[in-house]
Amino acid sequence: MSKKRVGILTGGGDCPGLNAVIRGVAKSAITQHDMEVIGIRDGFLGLIEGLSLPLPSSAVSGILTQGGTILGTSNKEDPFAYRRKIDGKEVVTDVSDRCMGFYHQLELDALICLGGDGTLTIAGKLAEKGANIVGVPKTIDRDLMETDTTFGFDTARTLATEAIDRLHTTADAHHRVMLVEVMGRNAGWLALEAGIAGGGDIILLPEIPYDIEEISAAVARRNKGGKRFSIIVVAEGAKAKGGEQTYQKSVLSQVRLGGCAQLLAQQIEESTGVECRVAVLGHLQRGGTPTPYDRLLATQFGVQALELVVNREFNAMVAIKGGEITAVPIQRIMGKQRLVPLNSPLIKVAAAVGTSFGAKLPV
Ligand code: F6P
Repeated sequence: MSKKRVGILTGGGDCPGLNAVIRGVAKSAITQHDMEVIGIRDGFLGLIEGLSLPLPSSAVSGILTQGGTILGTSNKEDPFAYRRKIDGKEVVTDVSDRCMGFYHQLELDALICLGGDGTLTIAGKLAEKGANIVGVPKTIDRDLMETDTTFGFDTARTLATEAIDRLHTTADAHHRVMLVEVMGRNAGWLALEAGIAGGGDIILLPEIPYDIEEISAAVARRNKGGKRFSIIVVAEGAKAKGGEQTYQKSVLSQVRLGGCAQLLAQQIEESTGVECRVAVLGHLQRGGTPTPYDRLLATQFGVQALELVVNREFNAMVAIKGGEITAVPIQRIMGKQRLVPLNSPLIKVAAAVGTSFGAKLPV
């Protein structure tokens, strides 16, 4: 009898811990269950274009601590709406049958998909077409439903906190307002937690639209109280009350958040007369070696994903709830985002230590 085969792909933006999951899946598949592991290159692009590679033990040895993904990733390719240029014109086609064809050609018993909401929503749609899917939640944004956290978040939070720590001394020395823009898309988890851990004076979240007058008043209050500098932690998805999020100009069609901190710096300088400087952390938050927490979580997720395959519990996403590694139906997370609730205990805690959210908080 031929060996059982499991495929694995990484989709969407990379984050620290992807390789630790790949290693967890492959090592337990090979050593515990005598299975074969096939890597799909570059996320769903590999499934569309038929790009794969075998993953024997030697291929996953020594990758636990590496950032990025040994499989490559892509964050634009959707098999259900695949965009290509034909004779200079953009054509959008559904190539999901082609993906299913490649899945069967590889004789996969299951496909493990590592990704955020975009990747896992596509994976869920492939499950509806008959693929045996197991999802693994990854994202530095921690914006996935049905799991308390995702691997990658802790590493990004650590980096952002260290950046805020470092900005304190230069802000203090020059009596400036330092604005630090962090990632997170439409969710403010990264800004909120790094902001509290780093002692940010003002934290701006997408979930709490800001008022420039409140921000300026908070800066002025600090100056009056003898603190001649302020640190403002800005989520890239933050927006003014009644305003829109800020986007970067892009030559390619993708929508990219970014630029909110720069915009705010000009407005704060104008209204307070205090000099402002901006630091945008950008993709630094996605690079480097995962923290011990993320390595642990990623390894647990990888081993659990393979367990689900072995037990034929498909169309599920691995999750962590109350410290327990578990699984939830993938359909429950498709097309949804987990945002910071306005009654979050962390918002209360931050407010209790004098942090401003640039707006009046609902009581
Ligand atoms: O979802 C992860 C994330 O890093 C977001 O925080 C950010 O908005 C986005 O990806 C950036 O994506 P890209 O790699 O396409 O610039």
